[in-house]
Amino acid sequence: MFSFANLSIPLIQAPMAGGITTPALVSEVSNAGGLGSFGFAYSSPETIGHDLKLAQSLTQGPINANFFIFPSAELPDSKTIGQVIELLQELTPDIDFVVPKPPFCPDLETQLEPVWQLQPAVLSFHFGIPPEWVMQRARALSITIGITATSLEEALKIEQAGASFIVAQGIEAGGHRGTFEIDSPDERLSTFDLLHQLVKRCTIPVVAAGGIMNGRDIRKALDLGASAVQMGSAFLCCPESGASSEYKALLLDENPRPSIFTKGFSGRWARGIENTFTRHMDAKSTLPFPIQNTLTGQLRQAAARSHNAEHQSLWAGSAFYKARTLTVGELMKALQIEFVS
Ligand SMILES: Cc1cc2nc3c(=O)[nH]c(=O)nc-3n(C[C@H](O)[C@H](O)[C@H](O)COP(=O)(O)O)c2cc1C
Repeated sequence: MFSFANLSIPLIQAPMAGGITTPALVSEVSNAGGLGSFGFAYSSPETIGHDLKLAQSLTQGPINANFFIFPSAELPDSKTIGQVIELLQELTPDIDFVVPKPPFCPDLETQLEPVWQLQPAVLSFHFGIPPEWVMQRARALSITIGITATSLEEALKIEQAGASFIVAQGIEAGGHRGTFEIDSPDERLSTFDLLHQLVKRCTIPVVAAGGIMNGRDIRKALDLGASAVQMGSAFLCCPESGASSEYKALLLDENPRPSIFTKGFSGRWARGIENTFTRHMDAKSTLPFPIQNTLTGQLRQAAARSHNAEHQSLWAGSAFYKARTLTVGELMKALQIEFVS
């Protein structure tokens, strides 16, 4: 059974959906004594099975498989859809956008089939609590469950649902903000403020996520009561990461751009490096999540093919400019040294 006490460094490499968390990245983190995580939110069961099996052949260490709890979404009227497509076509007149058709998100039950078969040590969820049958099945197989919270209220619900740990995601964190409801009031607490609130009130382990980039930050989080940290941006520039070279170049830019929140790519708030797309979509309406994500996928895939960073989602936390280009093994060693010294 997974235990934070068995990690040689109290670190979860964050799950990062969209091809970043390759089997090499995940297995190298686990080989170095951390918990490597796959971001499988948009992956097919075939990819999930393939990547999990491959990573398990590359490490004896624990692996985490992460999924989104997608809300049900309905297509708005054709006028609204037309307006959003028009906005996107102002950026990419060549793309003949196809209106997404239901189902608008992957089916969690089929995505989880390879998970039950291959039984990674940990299963984690973002955007809410999975259905009770998932909690029960995981428990029966001794798979540990972790769930993201962005507030004390969400954390208490997670504890009540019987999860084993909470990922406390502060406002500094890169990627999608894991609030349960898309447009609920958001206190936007910093990682350490949220951590402080959660360790006072929750009885299960709390993992700090957001803006943690080096071993000293890990030490600080542990001193404040965290059982571990979850780090995403710090791993983006490793050669094992699946981030595109143009994405890595902007992360490492000597004059870093700001990281900002945008709803433009997916219909949900997410933090990433500012680019032409985020500026164009600023304060504009979007289709509901995840329909907007599917729609803009056509533009993002074209941008990836032409290596155009201005139309790609460049998810990154507020401290992304501290990311290092080390291999996963070297980064884990450096973090370990900084953490203990
Ligand atoms: C590129 C990227 C993709 C992400 N995708 C996911 C995801 O699929 N699932 C998830 O739970 N969190 C995801 N996150 C959020 C991370 O779990 C974590 O909260 C965040 O990376 C912490 O902030 P940091 O980037 O400053 O370390 C993502 C973060 C980034 C940077």
